[in-house]
Amino acid sequence: MSSQNFKNRQEEIVSFLKSRGFVFPSSEIYGGFAGVYDYGHYGYLLIKNIKDAWMKSMIQERDDVLALDSAIFMHPTTWKASGHVDGFNDPQIDCRKCKTRMRADHVLEEFGISADKQSIEFINFELDKLRSENKLFCQNCGSSDLTEAKVFSLMVKSNLGSPVDTLSEDNVVYLRPETCGGIYLEYKNTVDSLHPKLPFGMAQIGKAFRNEIQAKQFIFRTREFEQMEMQYFFNPKAENGEAASAYFEAWKDYRWKFYLDYGIKEDNLRWYKHEKLAHYASDAYDIEYKYSMLGDSFKELEGVHQRGDWDLSQHSKFSGADLSYFDEASKERFIPHIMETSVGVARMMLAFVDNAYEREELQDGESRIVMKLDKRLSPIKVAVFPLSKKEALQTKSREIWKNLNKKFMTEYDESGSVGKRYRRQDEIGTPYCVTVDFDTLDESSDKHNTVTVRDRDSMKQERVKIDELARFFAERF
Ligand code: GAP
Repeated sequence: MSSQNFKNRQEEIVSFLKSRGFVFPSSEIYGGFAGVYDYGHYGYLLIKNIKDAWMKSMIQERDDVLALDSAIFMHPTTWKASGHVDGFNDPQIDCRKCKTRMRADHVLEEFGISADKQSIEFINFELDKLRSENKLFCQNCGSSDLTEAKVFSLMVKSNLGSPVDTLSEDNVVYLRPETCGGIYLEYKNTVDSLHPKLPFGMAQIGKAFRNEIQAKQFIFRTREFEQMEMQYFFNPKAENGEAASAYFEAWKDYRWKFYLDYGIKEDNLRWYKHEKLAHYASDAYDIEYKYSMLGDSFKELEGVHQRGDWDLSQHSKFSGADLSYFDEASKERFIPHIMETSVGVARMMLAFVDNAYEREELQDGESRIVMKLDKRLSPIKVAVFPLSKKEALQTKSREIWKNLNKKFMTEYDESGSVGKRYRRQDEIGTPYCVTVDFDTLDESSDKHNTVTVRDRDSMKQERVKIDELARFFAERF
């Protein structure tokens, strides 16, 4: 990473993630495509580790959550039943001069006017008042030439079957705006095939799509993104009717601890209770993270929501399928209630990067960039270097790399000085670097068949026998 002068931390980290092959703006050679990003080699590996960590915590380490991988395309009625076709929209206004699109409710909020659950007529009435008082301007160019507010659906439409060249009511399908829709549709098959007893959860990771009006703030809010969602089904009358709040509190606690376990500083986390609830929710909290790269402000990282019996009741009503559950113990039949945990993969990645990215001053007057990621999340676990490009050192290093890469994501690097190679690995968060030097090869040396292992955080080096490397690292991961 060069020592460019960045105006702020956001610019620095965005530039870093691009230059080090983590995140690229989509379709850049065509001038870009707003609100969509691609993930390069290290970005892919980091994201994979984040998803594995979530799956481990949500499925592997629990006996009450089952996995699912449902399709992105679903019967279009799914989204009528869920309320998304009619209700998943935002009011927008456009600047006629610079074409910037703005959320009308956000504009009103800046004047202390809440547009929460208000009609488009109310929003336009309030905007007209501001206009007549000469207070309404484009947030981008300052022009007062703004359109009136219109309702803008966040649903992304596509088509399947024929005719495919026109979008009509007959062939429109929606790209799912949240992954949980697939979980509700597979609730019945899961109960019928695996016979789980309440309470139990279903978890899945997958892509979701939203026509976000303002896809800003890098990968924090995008139009195509991945979600990690878990829906927990329970009997609302269990525990004398205390079940809803008991499960809710337990899951809130469980998700909070996940972030601490993976190294997020607790001071940078807080709970936010929603006053404005989505159409399906009866209670909702967010875990907010203080993104230093987004102006040091607390922003939604993960939602924990009570959805009541809304989803299964609606899908039962629209599909005609019986989605009730028969409880053997109480001999009661009822529609299970649901609470969910839901988080965007990229938003979590951004929090981990923001938390780990440091520019560190060193004793020798130098500085380094280091990503102090939890080792389990690091894209590369071990890097192996020959001290120089001497063939014997290269051969030995490659041999070690080949052995280690069966167990760990390991990188071989021989370009530039060893110091530069250490810096490169520090930047991408690699916890250990192994260097093969002349002592490694020298049969007369007491360091024969040993290598140096350097620790990313302490930068301390120790000598380890080649034969013991695999065990050495296994103990540390
Ligand atoms: N199933 C509930 C649901 O989807 P949400 O609050 O709309 O609730 C849940 O989204 C999480 O998904 C958010 O907390 C955020 O982490 C992520 N998310 C939502 N919209 C996003 C977007 N446009 N880009 C990236 N992540 C997003």
